[in-house]
Amino acid sequence: MKVLVLGGGGREHALAWRLAQDSSVSEVLTAPGNPGTAAVGRNLPVDLSSPEAILELASREHVDLTVVGPEAPLERGVADTFRAAGRPIVGPSSRGAALECSKAHAKAFMARHKIPTARFAVCDDLASALAAVSGFDFGFPVVVKADGLAAGKGVTIAADRAEAEAAVRAAMVDQQFGSAGARLVIEECLTGPEVSAFFLCDGESAFPLGTAQDHKRIFDGDRGPNTGGMGAFAPSPLASAQLMADVAERIVGPVLKGHQADGDPYYGFLYVSLMLTQDGPKVIEFNVRFGDPEAQAVMPLLGDGFAKLLMDSAAGGLKTWLQATNRDVTVGVVLASRGYPTSSESGRVIEGLDRAAAVPDVTVFHSGTRQDDRGRIVTAGGRVLTVVGRGPSFEKAMSAAYRGVEQISFDGMQYRRDIGQKALQEIS
Ligand code: AMP
Ligand code: GLY
Repeated sequence: MKVLVLGGGGREHALAWRLAQDSSVSEVLTAPGNPGTAAVGRNLPVDLSSPEAILELASREHVDLTVVGPEAPLERGVADTFRAAGRPIVGPSSRGAALECSKAHAKAFMARHKIPTARFAVCDDLASALAAVSGFDFGFPVVVKADGLAAGKGVTIAADRAEAEAAVRAAMVDQQFGSAGARLVIEECLTGPEVSAFFLCDGESAFPLGTAQDHKRIFDGDRGPNTGGMGAFAPSPLASAQLMADVAERIVGPVLKGHQADGDPYYGFLYVSLMLTQDGPKVIEFNVRFGDPEAQAVMPLLGDGFAKLLMDSAAGGLKTWLQATNRDVTVGVVLASRGYPTSSESGRVIEGLDRAAAVPDVTVFHSGTRQDDRGRIVTAGGRVLTVVGRGPSFEKAMSAAYRGVEQISFDGMQYRRDIGQKALQEIS
């Protein structure tokens, strides 16, 4: 089968790389892709904001299956457009994408379907938001979230009333997140380790693809501002069979049933971001796509049959099972540009990519890279590469990943030195 992957980051490189190895895949196209995806298939230009343009590309190229990387094309209705045209696609409808794209919608959905999550209030005006952060309902710290997509920066954990009020005013008065912050979700602050679980859905049932733990803060020891993710390991040692059964029953099942009841069955990836609290797992948020960098950590662990599984999810009636994988684990370290996450530089020449790829048990995925007019691979964004190490233990996977990292250099390169450390602590 011929597969089209939409997007151009590390997640898409990992998806394309995994699909290219599948026995049922003849060719992988990525649109727009990056220099990493160009090495495993063919890159094609596309306007990701236009569902019609994407459909036209898939028809012209006789694509059998389209896999959507980022959420934005889903929010714009690319899956609706494909389904109306009878073309298989992995991803939910535009309405289904609201589970990620509107936090207020997601919280209301969870409340309606009794899915465990933090207590919350949805506020549409300044007065109600200021009242919600007074401490009366949720105490402190309190969490202030922009309703819409804010590039991972829309969440403030406010230690006291003054901080919470400042976050409310920044969003609602100063419009720091534009229209995404016109509505706020205020919620109680949960505590516990965070685990991400990934499922593939076909409208009725879900297949567990794996688990991972992200590292959102920029600096070692989880310090500094939040980023899109500075590294991940997989699977999470905290994701016991018992926990996964609990998540399937209390969270994923109700998501599927709720969408069916609403007349809009849920298809595609479901990324459940969990906090393991003393009262059991609670949902921090849902995403309607795979995570980045979690995909880079999870893809190397999937066995053959992934493409068929994706096709089943698009067609309904998940029946394929992945061929058993071995028990390896992975650690993926993100290499970022100077200034990230506040700003980022571009155009710095990246050295050592081939040397890193030659290190045993190491795979290098491209995120923000491009080929310059002299044929060199240069940086092109905040998160540049994810170097993934694999092995039978987290010690081995970590040392492989960092041996790979040591081979690579570019001006201003920054990365965390402690990715995977948490897995070692969780096991001991
Ligand atoms: P989100 O964009 O919703 O994933 O939130 C970003 C990060 O904020 C999460 O990864 C959590 O670390 C933190 N967070 C979000 N909601 C809560 C909450 N209710 N309690 C504690 N931490 C939270
Ligand atoms: N790594 C977090 C995300 O993909 O949303």
